Amino acid sequence: MQLLDGRALSKKIEQKVSDEVKELKSTCGCTPGLAVVLVGQDPASAAYVNMKKKACDRVGFYSISHEMPETISQEAIEKTIIGLNNDSNVDGILIQLPLPPHIDTTKLLELVDPAKDVDGFHPYNVGRLVTNLDGFVPCTPLGVMELLHEYDIDVKGKNCCVVGASNIVGKPMAALLLNADATVEICHIFTDDLKKHTLNADIILCGVGVINLITEDMVKDDVVIVDIGVSRTKEGKLVGDVDFENVSKKSSYITPSPGGVGPMTIAMLLSNTLKAAKINAK
Ligand code: GUN
Repeated sequence: MQLLDGRALSKKIEQKVSDEVKELKSTCGCTPGLAVVLVGQDPASAAYVNMKKKACDRVGFYSISHEMPETISQEAIEKTIIGLNNDSNVDGILIQLPLPPHIDTTKLLELVDPAKDVDGFHPYNVGRLVTNLDGFVPCTPLGVMELLHEYDIDVKGKNCCVVGASNIVGKPMAALLLNADATVEICHIFTDDLKKHTLNADIILCGVGVINLITEDMVKDDVVIVDIGVSRTKEGKLVGDVDFENVSKKSSYITPSPGGVGPMTIAMLLSNTLKAAKINAK
């Protein structure tokens, strides 16, 4: 069993981004900029935003966060996004999800300039991903593809079982795998007999936030496991969706959680923001 070490790869990617930022600064005097919109007091969202800001600082990006109260109006957030679309210091805009229930999330995501959509959530970029055209791809599934590539795990022709069908993780994950010529199944909360599907998989990619959803009896020998889930145990420990201790014994490769996919998400946000900055600098 080999660990898919997202922490190590994310450091390598950060170094590359950091080198490119220096070069960009010296050639055109431009500094890549990321704006984050955070609404409300959710501690997990605040922690993610904080990690994203720190990562921006490490690689030399300009970053700004717009922190708004839970009770903010739709119109006020829309105004902020329009301002960021028109701000030449901002190359990437990220709206931290989830938003409070009174907010129309889709409308906000559609308002972000697709050229600054570093999260890849705008329907324009979703369409480009599904049709295998260049665009912005959601950071978590993009990070998974980078991690598989780093370890020379070729998905072509492989049976891949994606567990979870969210717009942020499962659906773009499936599209990326399909674009890389994998055979893809998407399982979700209404899937009848999940085990039947996971047992057939060469690669399982699971991101639903259910502790110990994937157990050793559900996987075949030498399976590749990518654990995208994040949950907190009653004791406050961060864990994934996979029973790591037992499933790892049957795996050829497996991500630790934490330390697997999580750091890759942040690395891909940096990479997407740099990509946006390079396009804007042209
Ligand atoms: N909330 C949970 N994951 C994400 C993500 O990747 N991007 C944003 N913007 N919000 C999230």
